Amino acid sequence: MKTILTPTPLVSHPDEVRIVSKRFGQGATSIDRYIELDGYKAARKALEMQPEDIINEVKVSALRGRGGAGFPTGMKWSFIPKQSDADKYILVNGDESEPATCKDRLIVEYDPHSVIEGTIIAGLAVGAKLGFIYLRGEYRYLLEIVERAVADAYAKGFLGKNIFGSNREFNIITQTGAGAYEVGEESALMESLEGKRGLPRLKPPFPAIKGLYGGPTVINNVETIASIPPIIINGGKWFASFGPEKNGGARLTCLSGHFNKPGVYELPLGYPAKKLIYDVGGGIPKGRSLKAMVPGGSSTFLLTREEAESASMDYDWFAKRGEFLGSGGVVAIDDQTCMVRMALCIMKFYQHESCGWCIPCREGTDWLKKTLMRFHAGGGMEKDIDQMLYLAENMAGRTFCALGDAAAFPTISIVKKWRDDFEMHLDGKPCPFEKKGARERDLAVV
Ligand SMILES: Cc1cc2nc3c(=O)[nH]c(=O)nc-3n(C[C@H](O)[C@H](O)[C@H](O)COP(=O)(O)O)c2cc1C
Repeated sequence: MKTILTPTPLVSHPDEVRIVSKRFGQGATSIDRYIELDGYKAARKALEMQPEDIINEVKVSALRGRGGAGFPTGMKWSFIPKQSDADKYILVNGDESEPATCKDRLIVEYDPHSVIEGTIIAGLAVGAKLGFIYLRGEYRYLLEIVERAVADAYAKGFLGKNIFGSNREFNIITQTGAGAYEVGEESALMESLEGKRGLPRLKPPFPAIKGLYGGPTVINNVETIASIPPIIINGGKWFASFGPEKNGGARLTCLSGHFNKPGVYELPLGYPAKKLIYDVGGGIPKGRSLKAMVPGGSSTFLLTREEAESASMDYDWFAKRGEFLGSGGVVAIDDQTCMVRMALCIMKFYQHESCGWCIPCREGTDWLKKTLMRFHAGGGMEKDIDQMLYLAENMAGRTFCALGDAAAFPTISIVKKWRDDFEMHLDGKPCPFEKKGARERDLAVV
């Protein structure tokens, strides 16, 4: 298979802090180069530490899960029972299927050993001897890189029965999905890894108690795991100092959509969104202005321009509003964009990716997609607007996994905040934002 790697040079900005991206573009896919660049020092240090001290360092770091939910990582690790009859596991989530989020790919591509090293340390912290690195089906072309890195780590004795000559065992198995968004959800991910259809599990029991193959399991995002070695080397306090309280470190922020300077930038937590938009992202092209912003992947509530310009890119700023910082995918949307079409594009994705297990999600996404299609095509009625809101609000919180929420949240925010855009389509009026023929082309590809 031909390996197609990221062709463009990495972008950069003076405000970036290089924690996870420190070795990007420096040849660190080679194990010797990784070692030259301080690689595997953290794993050696962790071997000298007590498991509870590793967990405590991660707690002090205020690292929160980079997969989207922002759960404190140290706390998650501390839920794993110390004594367990069943084997424990570390599961690294590289499914990265959230539209607009494209950061885990870079870590795997440029610094795969940081993921291996982070997985070893997580294993030492909770007493697991086996870790899995699971990549989305579409990242199969990156598997070659990860598998080579894993093989090199085995050859050096960093993985296996006697890691770093310590008489302790840790192994890693790699796996890819088959291209389903749903298997990024942790319980569906475990089902998929066990060879079953990727459907979510009922919780509780939570994975920390009964996860993969029935054993206590830590599930963390690729970026979360890659943040562990620098925390162990430099200390939790150092990592915590980059962001506001309870929001440690920096995160890979993926700018796409209507930005003059799209790209992936590593910025401290709590970075002002206004600076992110106009300075890092270079503002909006063609002299247009910002209409809306997706703060962290397509499943988050969208922000209006005023909200975006006053936002702080940390978990708690969003949590206070009952919203989410998400998984690092920031999309700028300019004033020439139709928000009905935006809602339709998002819903097409969720309707397609709903696994169909829970009725509110399966039926809700389908009804919403059909209503939005009709609405955008000029067949919308006033009552549809409230009906869409009703449907979305009744999906949220009523499904086994959060895919239902992921589809509902952007819809709720778009209908509530850009109701005017919906009203402009009423009474058979053509979409005011689109050129002649665009609507027909749109419908043809649904
Ligand atoms: C539908 C759905 C898709 C998800 N996709 C991903 C994903 O691709 N990558 C990821 O890390 N987390 C994803 N998550 C979140 C995971 O369930 C889980 O919270 C995360 O992997 C935990 O890691 P963290 O604590 O390091 O963030 C998804 C959640 C849902 C509901």
